[in-house]
Amino acid sequence: MRITVRDLVEMKRNGQRIAMVTAYDYPLARLLDEAGIPIVLVGDSLGMTALGYETTLPVTLEEMIHHTRAVVRGTQRAMVVADMPFMSYQVSSEDAVRNAGRLIQEGGAQAVKLEGGRTVIEQVRKIIAAGIPVMGHLGLLPQSVHQIGGFRVQVRTREQIQRLIEDALLLQEAGAFSLVLEGIPAPVARVVTELLEIPTIGIGAGPHCDGQVQVIADLLHLLPGPLPRHARPFLEAGELIRDALARYAEAVRSGEFPTAAESFQLPKDVDTTWLDDLATRLAGQGQDPGREGQEDARRGAD
Ligand code: KIV
Repeated sequence: MRITVRDLVEMKRNGQRIAMVTAYDYPLARLLDEAGIPIVLVGDSLGMTALGYETTLPVTLEEMIHHTRAVVRGTQRAMVVADMPFMSYQVSSEDAVRNAGRLIQEGGAQAVKLEGGRTVIEQVRKIIAAGIPVMGHLGLLPQSVHQIGGFRVQVRTREQIQRLIEDALLLQEAGAFSLVLEGIPAPVARVVTELLEIPTIGIGAGPHCDGQVQVIADLLHLLPGPLPRHARPFLEAGELIRDALARYAEAVRSGEFPTAAESFQLPKDVDTTWLDDLATRLAGQGQDPGREGQEDARRGAD
């Protein structure tokens, strides 16, 4: 049985912190599920971390559905939340409901997440009215990167703080089951968390949120380069993987891989005399089998 919206609200009531992590493919989704992570987010951060784009903006609904399906196949217990990509909900409520529906129906997600407060509140209401759980997202909104001029901490002035609090309450009233707070000062996240009954999930929002979310590529340090300040690498996986691949390449170059134990032999009752003879002949000539050798080999295989 998967984690439900009710379980998450219950976790907040019981003071149980919620760990959410992004995933975009089957193997990592399986590992997250096995590790007991209750929410797996198919974030549109996959644009940067899995597809090599510079922002989340080029990510399409088809890409989100494709990756969501893989993550759903890899999980049994975790709730899978799929991000609604840029322009899949901003234009109209009709678009928003139809596209959220596709992430649920075709992608197999249990909930969707979208960015924004009052500006998208009608869409949030309509999606929820269609029976689809919605996770809100306030603070640093990566889909507005060109408007905010980079990925920087948001909400510093009194007006901005008041607006964020109002948006958070609006989302809760509209029926959102939880709220991501990204890139905002910790004291602001603390107040929002205390004001809301639904759980807040922070990223770069300090320790007072009801849960935390990390991008898997940061958590495992899969990509080169420095991490954002809020991210902690729990494994240097990029380095370990690069190292393993270099050792593999060297083992192939040197002929050390594969060994006999890593190879297949012919069954004992197959007469291989002709093949052994051919191999000996070729070794003596120091050349490729050529046409004659290939003919021999084909005859032997018949
Ligand atoms: O796309 C994403 O990974 C996200 C998280 C950073 C919350 O929205």
